[in-house]
This record gives sequence, structure tokens and C-alpha cells, in this order.
Amino acid sequence: QTTPDDLFTAINDLKRKLNAVVLAHYYQDPDIQDAADYIGDSLGLSRQAAETSADVIVFAGVHFMAETAKIINPEKLVLLPDLEAGCSLADTCPPEEFAQFKAAHPDHIVVSYINCSAAIKAMSDIICTSSNAVDIVRQIPKDQPIIFAPDRNLGRYVMTETGRDLVLWQGACMVHENFSEKKIVQLKIEYPQAEVIAHPECEEPVLRHADYIGSTTALLKYAKQSDSSEFIVATEPGIIHQMQKEARDKQFIPAPPMNSCACNECPHMRLNTLEKLYLAMENRTPEITLPENIRVAALKPIQRMLAMSH
Ligand code: 13P
Ligand code: SF4
Repeated sequence: QTTPDDLFTAINDLKRKLNAVVLAHYYQDPDIQDAADYIGDSLGLSRQAAETSADVIVFAGVHFMAETAKIINPEKLVLLPDLEAGCSLADTCPPEEFAQFKAAHPDHIVVSYINCSAAIKAMSDIICTSSNAVDIVRQIPKDQPIIFAPDRNLGRYVMTETGRDLVLWQGACMVHENFSEKKIVQLKIEYPQAEVIAHPECEEPVLRHADYIGSTTALLKYAKQSDSSEFIVATEPGIIHQMQKEARDKQFIPAPPMNSCACNECPHMRLNTLEKLYLAMENRTPEITLPENIRVAALKPIQRMLAMSH
């Protein structure tokens, strides 16, 4: 199938024709971010999905994000430019094994990070994102034992911030576990004025060097407001596109990966391209679908999260 030369105009035409909204995560290619109606972190994207009046949601992100939009909007067409765009963290938590883990802790409630499949959400009591995890755990009575899944790094960060003892599922994100503490320290020596800003999916030795820890939206906001003019950014470098746009005179240095042959771009997020976004809208496929019983069970903990988030 041939694609138009000017994909931006073609995508805008299709937005009007389909009454579609394009939601994009900060880890998407800069082109996709520039074509989006809204760019945000997982909480912001979930809120947009809950509030939109569009008939079609084109989700430029990964599968669990588009799936969350579909759980909230069963009547809408939800498109994901590449259906293979998964998440290494969500994959670390297979539903059968998690069911056994949950059964072994019958008095615990389950707080799950939104980076998990609908099947895991359906087994959870409350969903959280990196921007509200600490606040949500603080709202749970102190004597209530909690399982936190699937990200052990975010879970450990929440334990440090709240002083609570959580039972952690041992999952992790391949992108955020790939930052090199040693190379970050070397960069700090090279750029003594730079602040380190990091996502809580990073491992503890990296977070130890962070001047600020937060979700993608929180990191962007902090970088804009801070008096510093140089930042070492320990999260997927797609966010630097917005940081550079919103703080043009500041310098953003991507934190280096352990393996110098690799980069820290998320291979799942980067499966989406502007061309695939156009084709998804033009052909109205690939579409997100899920069994109704799972959808209904997964909706409850998402609604709890939205109600508990300020
Ligand atoms: P947030 O944008 O919610 O911080 O999530 C980061 C992430 O890893 C998404 O997959
Ligand atoms: Fe999943 Fe990590 Fe990619 Fe986010 S950056 S989508 S957590 S693999």
C-alpha cells in the first residue's frame, strides 16, 4: 500500500474523517509526538482516554496502554499502529504464575503498576502509575498487607518513600535496567553542574544519584522549572524531544546504557512509526479487542486508580 508524501496532512485529514484522537506516549518517535493531539505519561493518557469524545482512539504507545484505553471505552474503536508493540516489563508477569503468587498471599491486596496485561489488571485491586504509586499506597490502611506487581524497582522506590513493607513481584523493564551507574558517575564528573533526573523504573544504584525522580510528565515539568541548565536524563530518550521543545536553552544528556553497542530506546515503543500510524487510521486496523469478562474485571481497579488520583 502506498502512503502519501505528506503524512502529517494525511493524518490530520483522517482525524477529521474518523472523528479520531491520537494519543502518544513520550517514548514515541519525535514525528509521532508531533502528529499527536495529546502527549503524556501513563496516568495522563488514561485520563485522556477516559474523557475523550472521539469515536476512534489511535494509541501511539504500547499494547498495555491501548488495552487500558479499550477497557475504559468498550464502544470505541482503539487502534495500535503495530500490534507487536508490547512491553518487556508486562511480559515478566505471566497470569498463571501471578495467580499462584496471589494465592500464596491470601490476606494481601494487589496494587499493580499499569504496565501489565489486562489479565493481571483483572486480578488486581488497584492500578497505579509511576506518577501516583506512592500516593495510592499511602491511602491504603497501614495494617493492610500489599502485593506490588510487576515492577520491583518502582515497588522498592514506593517502599522507600512510604516506609511500607510490600511483597514485590520480581519484574523489571529492560530499558530502565540498562542504565550504567558507572557511566552516569563519569558524566556527572564531566558535567558538574548537571542534575540527574530519573524514572523510578531504574535500579536503586542509578536512583541513588538522582536529584529528582518521577514519571515522564513529572521529569519534563521538573526540567522546565529547575534553575539548572544541564540534565542527565535516565529514562527512555524519546522524552528529550519534548524537553528540548519546552526548554530550548537547556541541555539534555541521555544517560548512557551499560552496553555501548546498545541504546536506551524502548524496542517496543519504537515499533510504531508515523507511516504505521497513518496506515492504521486509513485501514482502521490493527484494532485492540479483549474478552468482555476480563475487560469488566480489569476496569474496576482502573476506576479505583482514577478516583484515588489527585
Ligand atoms: P510513565 O510515562 O507513566 O512515567 O511510564 C513510563 C513507562 O515506562 C511507560 O512504559
Ligand atoms: Fe515497557 Fe520499559 Fe518499554 Fe516502558 S520502556 S514500554 S516499561 S519495556
